[in-house]
Amino acid sequence: MSYLVLDSLRHQTQDVLKEQFAFDVLMGFSAPSKFLPSKYFYDATGSRLFEQITELEEYYPTRCEFEILNKVGGEIAEFMQGKPFEIVELGAGDGRKTKVLLSQLLKLTDQFSYIPIDISESAMADLDDSLKQSHPSLTTHGIVGDYFASIRHLENTSDRRKLVLLLGSNIGNFDFPSAKRFLHSIWKCLNHNDLLLMGFDLKKDIEVLTRAYNDKHGITRDFNLNVLTRINTELDGEFDIQRFTHHGMYNPRHGAMESYLVSLEHQEVHIGALEKTFEFNAHEAIHLELSHKYLLSDMQHLAEQTGFSVLKNWQDSQCYFADGLWQVNKDFPEKDFSRSEY
Ligand SMILES: C[S@@+](CC[C@H](N)C(=O)[O-])C[C@H]1O[C@@H](n2cnc3c(N)ncnc32)[C@H](O)[C@@H]1O
Repeated sequence: MSYLVLDSLRHQTQDVLKEQFAFDVLMGFSAPSKFLPSKYFYDATGSRLFEQITELEEYYPTRCEFEILNKVGGEIAEFMQGKPFEIVELGAGDGRKTKVLLSQLLKLTDQFSYIPIDISESAMADLDDSLKQSHPSLTTHGIVGDYFASIRHLENTSDRRKLVLLLGSNIGNFDFPSAKRFLHSIWKCLNHNDLLLMGFDLKKDIEVLTRAYNDKHGITRDFNLNVLTRINTELDGEFDIQRFTHHGMYNPRHGAMESYLVSLEHQEVHIGALEKTFEFNAHEAIHLELSHKYLLSDMQHLAEQTGFSVLKNWQDSQCYFADGLWQVNKDFPEKDFSRSEY
């Protein structure tokens, strides 16, 4: 196998992972407004459903980013100035879009290697297999691990310039203060002039946004309900999935799509691993995910606040999506974003 499973993850036995899941469910269901962390979307079923979502007619982000990535290879190669570099992708998933970029770059240079990072070992195993078929000449060293543990692992492994990819709209899952903390933490692990190519879902017609998160085939609904199925199978939960519905809505005040599961009736659900029964009122919601939408000015602001200079923004033909190429500026002072004024 040509990927590494980080020790920090390998040492997390199934029992420890299950304990963490149980703890997060307990915290989420005990809160005044119930929630579940969105990281629990991606078991093997969740990853498969997400891939189906990306192919839906209503779900524009993947198509738009494909269009953008199809045209940026030449310019990115120019920014690399003919020197060897490493492409490090955070949350690579199935790598379908990345392959478009890799193919373009390989036509121009073979002076780079590809390091996909993903927390899901099954996603990494599939990506590893598919890259062997599609890009046999590419040097690839995947890492199964959390974003930060993996970037820290890379910190001392090579002095080549890095191009970090954060595709899709992963950054949108953070609120603005958390996005700043996240990006500044990436900045701390990178060297002066390293690059970051990041996808941003742009603010647009609310109808278009709402349709994208409420597809007519119900795949997004199944993707969200899968979190309850995971609680049933992994934590001995007794959820009757039919008694919940999915609700996706745009909140203009926060500039974000919000995803919820809503209880269709009053019910009590026992979770064996927690030895606890939780009450759900009729119409009570469980918050699952936020997906923030950006203006180009928000992107600029985020870069300036976290130690990056914007080199270029590319948009698709409908201006639904943007990928920004940012450069690390180490003259920027290191900040403590845990302090509230940031
Ligand atoms: C929404 S998918 C996006 C996949 C791909 N980048 C794209 O744009 O289509 C998010 C991916 O990030 C991975 N992921 C989520 N949280 C992660 C974390 N904390 N560390 C590493 N990978 C993570 C998931 O396993 C999943 O494969």
